[in-house]
Amino acid sequence: MLHKLHRTSAIIIGLFILLHLINHSMIILGAQNHIEFMDAIRVIYRNAIVESLLILCILFQVSSGVVLVWKRRGQRTGFIEKSQVWSGLYLAFFLINHLAAVFFGRLILELDSNIYFAIAGFYVLPFSLFFIPYYFLAVVAIFVHLASAFNWLLRNKIKNPIRKNIVFLIMFIGIGFALILIFAFLGFFSDINIPAEYLKVYQF
Ligand code: HEM
Repeated sequence: MLHKLHRTSAIIIGLFILLHLINHSMIILGAQNHIEFMDAIRVIYRNAIVESLLILCILFQVSSGVVLVWKRRGQRTGFIEKSQVWSGLYLAFFLINHLAAVFFGRLILELDSNIYFAIAGFYVLPFSLFFIPYYFLAVVAIFVHLASAFNWLLRNKIKNPIRKNIVFLIMFIGIGFALILIFAFLGFFSDINIPAEYLKVYQF
């Protein structure tokens, strides 16, 4: 039952993440493109109904995930099964922090929680030493978690070694995509000028 609910809630969160990562890919074309795309899709996820559902699903996903890890502790063997646990635990840590930061930015700092808000820390030392691996690992963890779920769900449908090769391919695509995003956030593909009000958050 818990497994089934965990999977259903993952599909809802997954739809948002897909849209969110497509949005982040826009940074390759420049920050203005990212902001315009986010403005357009906020109509979908930043309304009371969808946002409340998303937050409820995230809270459920994180707590059910921790319970599932605890229930089968010590029984998981092999790289893929262990990757599922570690990527899931990282996503739990990331999601709680990320949501708290977004709402802190919006409600307490009264800033527009756009891409400048998310990546300002990339441009201020020593915060960049935290934020660069923090976002890189989040994107990698999504792909690793997806790949391990694929491995489990299709265990009786696709034979090894084909299944394992697909799993590793998904993981490598995730690492490549995460690297491209990080370089794009650092301004390698287009100029990024973080407005002063976002940099001020890190200058005290
Ligand atoms: C690639 C690095 C990422 C960056 C730069 C980033 C940035 C942001 C920004 C700027 C927002 C605020 C959106 C808005 O105000 O409309 C946001 C919200 C959010 N992000 Fe991310 N994000 C990243 C990765 C992720 C990942 C991997 C996940 C999921 C595991 C995620 C989950 C969320 C959620 C659930 C929200 C809250 C949506 C809302 O209710 O406004 N993000 N993110």
